[in-house]
Amino acid sequence: MREKLNHIRAMVLEDIINIIGLDELENLRIKYLGKKGELTLVLREMGKLTAEERPVMGQLANEIRNEIEDTLVSFKEKLKKEVRDDKIKKETIDVTISTNNEKLGHRHPLLATVEELENLFISMGFSVVNGPEIETVENNFDALNSPINHPSRDLSDTFYINKDLLLRTHTSPVQIRAMKEMGAPLRIVSAGRTFRFDSVDDTHSPMFHQLEGLVIDEKISMANLIHTLDIFIKELFGDDMKTRYRPHHFPFTEPSAEVDVTCFDCRGKGCSHCNNTGWSMELLGCGMVHPNVLEYCGIDSEKYTGFAFGMGIDRITMVKYGINDIRLLFENDNRFLEQF
Ligand code: PHE
Repeated sequence: MREKLNHIRAMVLEDIINIIGLDELENLRIKYLGKKGELTLVLREMGKLTAEERPVMGQLANEIRNEIEDTLVSFKEKLKKEVRDDKIKKETIDVTISTNNEKLGHRHPLLATVEELENLFISMGFSVVNGPEIETVENNFDALNSPINHPSRDLSDTFYINKDLLLRTHTSPVQIRAMKEMGAPLRIVSAGRTFRFDSVDDTHSPMFHQLEGLVIDEKISMANLIHTLDIFIKELFGDDMKTRYRPHHFPFTEPSAEVDVTCFDCRGKGCSHCNNTGWSMELLGCGMVHPNVLEYCGIDSEKYTGFAFGMGIDRITMVKYGINDIRLLFENDNRFLEQF
């Protein structure tokens, strides 16, 4: 029996050298120490020994069992450490890797225009606020005094999400949000995306951009509106730019006007772009805020008056950079964008 036991001890040490995984190690444990394992089978023969031999063999068997168990445990630790080290090695991120071949982008011409417009208005004392692109029908139409049968409410003109929500058709609902949240007096601009059911061509896109402006205070008049917009247009396009205010109708302003500016191409002389009029048409819409709108937002229309304006940013960007097709702004073709 002593021989068998010593043989087992030697075999374990020999077998373990070839073990490479935790599963194999477990199989090895079962092979020697399991219920039908080799050591267990030898121990079953203890009964055949004499009374003197039995304690001696018992002690030896125990020693060997402990030894095997110790060997397995320390080998298991070694294997686990190897697996862990290997994982750490594989998952390490090389922070020194060069990123020089990454291409850096730059501001889109449209965003550059938005920033320029916002900065101009900030310098005139306006604050910049944001509004959501998904608006309530209430803010987009009702609160803006738009009659229930106004054509722009039509399902064929506007992207409705359900009967109460839509993709805003202009930035004017930001007026409502600003007046309700901040009250009077107020001086804000807000730029962002707007949506209308237009087919795409070189001057139309179902998604476009507007900048809204709103001033509410005591004794605000049409003179303040005209002065503010004239300064703004001269700052943006040059001192030689003239403006022309044509009467117009918007439900949320009264009186309302559309503003034309000197033709950007001929600077007023008359050319094919302006049909020889010298005027570039409809740069923006504006007017004095309708008392109904003020009252709707909880502002006393006896005490306060105000003016509002809204302009197409895509159009301004195209004029500023000499871009002749609005689609170029949204296709994000690098060959186009890299020119700015
Ligand atoms: N919201 C109007 C439009 O989209 C423009 C506008 C804004 C007119 C503010 C008057 C006052 O056409």
